[in-house]
Formats: sequence, C-alpha cells, structure tokens
Amino acid sequence: MRTVYVNGDYLPETEAKISIFDRAFLMADGVYEVTSVLGGKLIDFAGHLTRLERSLDELDMKKPAAFDNLLDIHRELVRVNEIEDGLVYLQVTRGSDGDRDFVFPDRETTEPTLVLFTQSKPGLAQSPQAEKGLKILSIDDLRWGRRDIKTVQLLYPSMGKMMAKKAGCDDAWMIEDGHVTEGTSNNAYIVKGNKIITRQLSNDILHGITRAAVLRFAREAQMDVEERPFTIDEAKAADEGFVTSASAFVMPVVEIDGQALGDGTPGPVARRLREIYLDESLKTAV
Ligand code: PDD
Repeated sequence: MRTVYVNGDYLPETEAKISIFDRAFLMADGVYEVTSVLGGKLIDFAGHLTRLERSLDELDMKKPAAFDNLLDIHRELVRVNEIEDGLVYLQVTRGSDGDRDFVFPDRETTEPTLVLFTQSKPGLAQSPQAEKGLKILSIDDLRWGRRDIKTVQLLYPSMGKMMAKKAGCDDAWMIEDGHVTEGTSNNAYIVKGNKIITRQLSNDILHGITRAAVLRFAREAQMDVEERPFTIDEAKAADEGFVTSASAFVMPVVEIDGQALGDGTPGPVARRLREIYLDESLKTAV
C-alpha cells in the first residue's frame, strides 16, 4: 500500500483524510504539480516549484507551511514507496473553514491543504507509445481564460480525453478561433520544414515546465524555433507534430483528425528532442 503525505503526516493511503468542506472538493479551488521520477530522481523539480509558487500567487492562495520542505517531502515519498520510475503528484488547496461559501475563507485562520502521492510507472521513459506516436482529435477549447494557472479544474480536459478515445484517438488538441491552444494535458507543437512551431506563452496555455526545457535544448542544438499560434489546418499539413509534458516527456504525434503527418510515423525532430530531453534532464535530476 502506498504511503501518502497529508498536511504534515506520512500515512497509508487508506488512512489519509480531507474535509468534505475542502474548497478543492466543493469549488475546484486548488492547484497542482506533477513531477516525473526517473531512476529514483526528480526531473525539473525547481521548475515545478517555481510554477507552483506562481499558481498560488495568482489565486491569492497562501503557501502551505511546509513549502520550503517540498523537496524533502518529494524525496521521502519516492524513498518509502520505492519509486524507480513514476510521478509525484502534489496538490495545494485553499483548505476549509468548515462550511460552503463563495467568499474565500480568512487566510489568517484557514490553512491550505497539502497533499502529495506517488504513482509508480516502471519504464516510464521507454514508453511503447513513443515508438507509435499519438493520434490526435481536434476539439473546441471550452476551458476558462486562466489556463496559465495549474488548477485542478480538469473536467473539460478529462472530457476531451474521452472524446478522443471514443473517436479511436489517443488524445485531443483544443482549438480556439481556428488555432491550437494545447493538448488536454500537454503542450502542442508542429514541425514544418525543420522549423519547430509552438504557441507563445500567455494566459491561453499552461506554461509547461517540459516546454521550457525542450525549447531551450532545441535552441542549444541550433534548431529553429518559432513561438506563435498555428491553425489546425496548418497542423494537419505539417511534416510532424509532438506534445510535451512531465509525464510524456516529448511524445510524437502522427495523425490529426485522421490525417497522417508526414509518412504517419514519429518524425526525426520529435525523436531527437525526446532523446535530448531525457539525456539532459537526467543530468540535472535531484
Ligand atoms: N499536465 N498543458 C496542460 C493543460 C497540462 O495539463 C500540462 C501538464 C502541460 C505540460 O506541462 P508540464 O510540461 O509542466 O508537465 C501543458 C500534467 C502532466 C497532468 O495534468 O498530469
């Protein structure tokens, strides 16, 4: 049985408890991070911590008391759960003042809730999906306007994933005004004539930690990167596509709405970036 962390305690998962009045349960008033673990070490931990701090600030949410110990807590959970490859999920919520109210509870008297748990995924970096590539379905982007904040409001992305599965696809890319915003749980890229194109940062998309690293590595490798919106039609006519996230790293896209990209197999740019990302991020893993 897993050991999880709840508000200062390490507990068996069946003994962990949160109030039914917790703001995240009633109002999705919480933020989260997912950090991958490879070879027992955390990938891009500093980036995830920085983004967590930003998400909390943007929502005027108090930092949990254990904020400065988050690295130790991550490491302890990885250790006690014997995670070689997998993920650490972290969630901070606005907590509970024992009732339901749209008004935020007093931040002086209401402590945030902090929860962490691990997910074991042996062979996470050797995913067979990376050899096959993803089939993508395009869907409307019906999310709220602050997608840069990593909140636990994941109902629409979850529905998007189900729409994709129903259509025989692996994932969905969301479209706003004809342009791709991002994947249901990843950032989206196309490659045309050796140029890597991905939407620029704004409130429209999550500022992916993997995205930042991959773009840095791509530029260091003298690859051409253009940060701008691209249309779904442009994507369907691209040479290749891929997505990035903490759990998928760099994952090739081979088909959009039934239209094959290039020859319909993972492209060379996506393959190379996956290799570079895994090599380089392992070097700085903690
Ligand atoms: N999802 N865009 C969205 C909407 C996401 O949910 C995610 C991450 C990303 C990629 O961000 P990063 O590279 O920092 O993981 C982009 C996580 C993995 C999840 O919800 O499980």
